[in-house]
Amino acid sequence: MQNPTARPKRLFSSLAIATALLTIGLIVFGAVVRVTDSGLGCGNQWPLCNGTIFPPLDNLTAWIEWLHRLFALLIGAFGLATLVVAIRAYRHENRIALWATVAAALLYVVQSALGAIVVVLDLPPTSVTLHLGTAMLLLAALLTAALASVYRPARRYARDRFTTLAYIVTALAFVIILTGALVRGSGATLACVDYPLCNGEIFPTGQGQRGQWLLPRHGPCRY
Ligand code: HEM
Repeated sequence: MQNPTARPKRLFSSLAIATALLTIGLIVFGAVVRVTDSGLGCGNQWPLCNGTIFPPLDNLTAWIEWLHRLFALLIGAFGLATLVVAIRAYRHENRIALWATVAAALLYVVQSALGAIVVVLDLPPTSVTLHLGTAMLLLAALLTAALASVYRPARRYARDRFTTLAYIVTALAFVIILTGALVRGSGATLACVDYPLCNGEIFPTGQGQRGQWLLPRHGPCRY
């Protein structure tokens, strides 16, 4: 007789992989929102867009921002379906797949709330950076769930130096991504006009005001 959880498990793998791929797409689309300066395309309104449900046809930035929200909603539907199937398929075994899906669901809620905060507060760089960081964690949770459903090593491996190094490199890459977003969000992209030095100095001390990066993007001039 066929294992009763075989079908839900297959379905889970497909759903988890599809949700992870869609999330990669949404992350790229988020970058499009940012580089096209469409973050406030719907004004600082959420969930409405400039007071209406659908943006006017001739407002491209509003459409870009609105489609980002709609795309996020689609991922929410996929994520919910993945969670329901994960509970059916992995209630009693392979808890990694189940817990990674639960973590992804929680991160999705946080991410959506951060998206709304980013809009309502006029794109403050710190919140935009958190929005990007949470997107990375959400993707990591979805990829872990998808991977845990298709690959289970036959035995436990002892933690070796290579694994530790891989963890360290991953953590550093996360920091680089966050600081990159902060540089862009705070308008500091050309703060150092030469490389590898920063305006002729190793440490950029005494080169302008500090703390301005906390201001919203459309706040007063920073330099
Ligand atoms: C699963 C859900 C979501 C994911 C994975 C996601 C991901 C992203 C990413 C990766 C960016 C680019 C950030 C950067 O370049 O630093 C971004 C930008 C943005 N997102 Fe989302 N997002 C999600 C949901 C939402 C929601 C629900 C809203 C609004 C209610 C929203 C509003 C925005 C805005 C306004 C920007 C542009 C920020 C700017 O121009 O500085 N996001 N998103």
